[in-house]
Amino acid sequence: MKELIEKINNLKKEKNAVILAHCYQNAEIDEVADFVGDSLYLSQMAAKTDADIILFAGVYFMAQTAKILCPDKKVLLPNMNAGCEMADMINLKQLREFKAKYPDIPVVCYINSTAEVKSECDICCTSSNAVQIVDSIKSEKVLFLPDKNLGRWVEKQLQDTKVITYEGFCPIHHNITVEDVLRTKKENPGVKLLAHPECKEEVSSLADFVGSTTGIMNFVKNNSDKKYIIATEKGVVDRLKRDYPDKEFTLIKENLICESMKLNTLEDIYNSLNDETFEIKVDREISQKALKCIEKMLDVSKVGAAK
Ligand code: 13P
Ligand code: SF4
Repeated sequence: MKELIEKINNLKKEKNAVILAHCYQNAEIDEVADFVGDSLYLSQMAAKTDADIILFAGVYFMAQTAKILCPDKKVLLPNMNAGCEMADMINLKQLREFKAKYPDIPVVCYINSTAEVKSECDICCTSSNAVQIVDSIKSEKVLFLPDKNLGRWVEKQLQDTKVITYEGFCPIHHNITVEDVLRTKKENPGVKLLAHPECKEEVSSLADFVGSTTGIMNFVKNNSDKKYIIATEKGVVDRLKRDYPDKEFTLIKENLICESMKLNTLEDIYNSLNDETFEIKVDREISQKALKCIEKMLDVSKVGAAK
């Protein structure tokens, strides 16, 4: 493994490449990653980089977002089968039907969506800025897609905004039940539950903290508690265990694994950089429209971050 890591790091230098890795990736990928984080952080890093090649260790919509933000750069995804089941729950036809059912209402799309879908939405959001983005629209009603759970959670945080949600969800987070929460809390009395907002509303509402993958990691960083229950994909728990060996983390249930995220291996990353595969391409017109949707989000997030 050490040799492979060295070969990847040499290739990165030789080709002026940067590696962005999502928190759900296998932890060994951190050894070659320049930036590790949640969807918002990684899209901000993609927008800023002056590298010639961006290799995205994540899933397809993430690499596609990087390509939309950097149309003149080469963007690589190490494994073309790394998709997102939630993003695939809505296509352009379904989006148009949804909008037709609720005309003249602003449309917010979660970053976990295709470029085509983004190209016909008003503004994008990620799990870490969804509340801020919906709030920034200042509309009594908004359409929110594809994640109904995130949409419901956003509505609960905001008074006076009706969030009309599409019927999409993440199969991994949606699988977490109230029974899982009650059982784990009983087994770990007094231990805080940290949950991702892709969990069902009834699960999120029992959590002590709800936030993105980076949000959860930061919560642990900034708190002195020694034990936590985590309700998100296993990759976050693996990272937390590695970074805080003196703390204890309980994954709320077994098998919370996003198989797509785990497809990227160090071997794939080496081959991807070496052969410059698999290159992400986005139709120019769709890309320009989707860019407006993503840039609006980045502008709102920037203002929020400066406060
Ligand atoms: P983050 O915004 O926390 O990175 O979440 C993305 C995702 O796909 C979670 O399932
Ligand atoms: Fe998509 Fe869920 Fe995997 Fe995140 S965890 S990439 S939302 S399938």
